[in-house]
Amino acid sequence: MADHHILLLGPPGAGKGTQAKKLCEEYDLDHVSTGDALRANKDMETEYGTPRSFMEAGELVPDEVVNEVLETALENADGYVLDGYPRNLDQVEFLDDATDLDYVFFLDVGRETLVERLTGRRVDPETGENYHVKFDMPEDEEVRERLVQRDDDEEDVVRERLEVYEENTEPVIEHYREGGDLIEVDGEGAPEDVFERLTDAIEDDD
Ligand code: AP5
Repeated sequence: MADHHILLLGPPGAGKGTQAKKLCEEYDLDHVSTGDALRANKDMETEYGTPRSFMEAGELVPDEVVNEVLETALENADGYVLDGYPRNLDQVEFLDDATDLDYVFFLDVGRETLVERLTGRRVDPETGENYHVKFDMPEDEEVRERLVQRDDDEEDVVRERLEVYEENTEPVIEHYREGGDLIEVDGEGAPEDVFERLTDAIEDDD
């Protein structure tokens, strides 16, 4: 199996984390998520303050901090699915210098679906597993009872994150589209259907 380098782009709530996990299992790849890495280091002191202050406001964490996080994660990965990076054009440049990419996917999902997916997301604090109040609740009652909402999934922060995405990250999508590298995938529908669209694109190419 080739060590694919896969980039998953898409707005907050598009299903990048959900699909990244499935792709990693399918192709035996590492999941590199700047969001997960930053959440694990939320209170790390940097010259800009902690990542927490930016994340809870729905703002981007400064490039200097995120670039270091990315570099460390990529150093330890052969094949990977990258999710959450790049989020602006300077990060695109940094990524270009750091690695090459085999697939650049864009998960296309409408705004109201994004808000519904994000505000309904719940996380198991013990395993880090994501669920959804409407689409995907755990059967185990003990797990159901301990689920929490991410601070940045409250509706006002969600709306801010979507604005930050439009302003900073849509130009990133446009950059890959203009370069002819973007594979646009319908991100609506059941997770299994979205996954099939992604694997079809990879297998057609192998
Ligand atoms: P990050 O964690 O990367 O958040 P995000 O990009 O906003 O993406 P999400 O994790 O919210 O959504 P997702 O697309 O992964 O969707 P998911 O699969 O979970 O970043 C968080 C913060 O960190 C940023 O705001 C920023 O502050 C900072 N940060 C991170 N990277 C940075 C960078 N490069 N530069 C600067 N700052 C950075 O799905 C969402 C929900 O929907 C789940 O409940 C799931 O169960 C459900 N769901 C998924 N797919 C489906 C489906 N097909 N049908 C029904 N439900 C579904």
